[in-house]
Amino acid sequence: MTYLNNPLIKKVLLGTLAVMVVAILIATYLFFVPVVNRGVVFENKLHIPVLLEPTDLDGQKVFELAAQHGEMEFFTGQMSETMGFNGDYLGPVIRFNKGDNVAIHVTNELDEATAVHWHGMHVPAEMDGTPHQMIPPGQVWRAEYPVLNEAATMWYHPHPHGDTATQVSAGLAGLIIIDDENSDSLELPKTYGIDDIPLVVQDRLFNDDGEMIYQINNGSYYGDTILVNGTVGPFVEVPAAMVRLRILNGSNGRIYTFGFEDGREFYQIASDGGLLEAPVPMTGLKLSTGERAEIVVDLSDGEDVLLKSLPDLSFFAVEDFVTNLGARHSHFNLLKLVPTLDPASGEFVTELPAKLNTIERWSAEDADNIRSLQMAGGGAGGGGAAQGIPINGQIMDMGTINEVVMLGDVEIWEITNAGGQPHPFHIHDIQFLILDRDGDPPLPGESGWKDTVRVDPGETVRFMTQFTTYANSTIPYMYHCHILEHEDGGMMGQFVVADPAVELNQKQSLVARDNLANTTLPLLPDNFFLQSSAYTCDPNNNVSLLPVN
Ligand code: C2O
Ligand code: CU
Ligand code: CU
Repeated sequence: MTYLNNPLIKKVLLGTLAVMVVAILIATYLFFVPVVNRGVVFENKLHIPVLLEPTDLDGQKVFELAAQHGEMEFFTGQMSETMGFNGDYLGPVIRFNKGDNVAIHVTNELDEATAVHWHGMHVPAEMDGTPHQMIPPGQVWRAEYPVLNEAATMWYHPHPHGDTATQVSAGLAGLIIIDDENSDSLELPKTYGIDDIPLVVQDRLFNDDGEMIYQINNGSYYGDTILVNGTVGPFVEVPAAMVRLRILNGSNGRIYTFGFEDGREFYQIASDGGLLEAPVPMTGLKLSTGERAEIVVDLSDGEDVLLKSLPDLSFFAVEDFVTNLGARHSHFNLLKLVPTLDPASGEFVTELPAKLNTIERWSAEDADNIRSLQMAGGGAGGGGAAQGIPINGQIMDMGTINEVVMLGDVEIWEITNAGGQPHPFHIHDIQFLILDRDGDPPLPGESGWKDTVRVDPGETVRFMTQFTTYANSTIPYMYHCHILEHEDGGMMGQFVVADPAVELNQKQSLVARDNLANTTLPLLPDNFFLQSSAYTCDPNNNVSLLPVN
């Protein structure tokens, strides 16, 4: 005790304490310092994708898309090999009106096969652009459907089984914007490229020569540079008014929490599949891969502001930081917004409508069926991406239908993540409404239409949906994790929507269902369709290719 009274020892101890405090502060600072987009100066004009002009063919809007090899100069004087639609990197924006009858001719000018999927769109299974509609090199695929979805921001990207990650990361992706009567009538920022800005956010890895490279790191692809619409270090000039940003997390594996450098509030107005019922004020918005959100930010103060990715303080993200040396570290700047135009020079929006949309919700009692899916965990291969991460213990098999849904049914899907990292669950064909996360109501910003939902480790998300319009007993839709390397590794399943009223054959009798038990259909054993390979489909069928000239 006595030596503690010695002023010299006291000084040394206090000094040690001070050094420790400083060390902790430095460590904390390093923890939050951007390890991605290091030293980026936001001086490159943000690329705004062109709107693809359709031609009119007897009332049908025909769009031409070509998947091609390209070359991009991401950094001055340094070229990268890339892929793009109708260009070197990414693709044009395809704009639909609800009710349009559209056709998209997809020409594959690559030297490898591809498939092009309309993520979020409610289309027939044979038009969905899955691995069941492969387009060989040199061929043209004609996708054709009526636009049934409401106003929303969707996207298109390749879906060849096993090659989705490399094709998307090379640059094959683009946005789809849908308008409808409701969105037309609302006073929202809607002048494309002026106060309505599309943002495809992707992290990409570059070598010392400034060439974009593909490399799997801890089960997915994590870049050291952020591209927004393919632009490194972007800025965009916008009116000093309300500005709408349509954000797609188009990364392979990285999750972002979008917000502004000065912490200013913004409004989320849309989730994946449509407008929310009302604008939701927030300061941070988390989006996992494949998810979209439309936000509106008030820039009427005329100040430059940085859109950034905020640090993710959730437990598993901290763990990721420690174990992966920052591979998923999420704190960095993305885009500089520069309000330069005089708001009086155009008709810009200064106030948001209080009501955006009407969403009719099911209640849990309306469900005709409940399905439980477990992502990761359990069974062989639950551990690593190398063997594939299973859903319900199974790895994707092109020839197996994992789930059979009855046309018209309202269902609850209960998705559990038994693994140790977040998995974004995506389902084709439908949009859903989240019922709850571990029993708690969803956040207001995810209470609208969704097709992709982040499920955190240990969490169970329940959503409700209805399978309408399209039935096809042999061509499946998919559900999968939207971390592209997980998807390619088989973290995916297939489902068909069957219509017993139309196709009265054994496959549609679907016996496990009480309401069919008394029909005259020939009944099969209860678990007939759930056994793998009991019900198979031809992995190579269903391609309708146009003649090549
Ligand atoms: Cu965006 Cu099946 O994918
Ligand atoms: Cu999809
Ligand atoms: Cu996953």
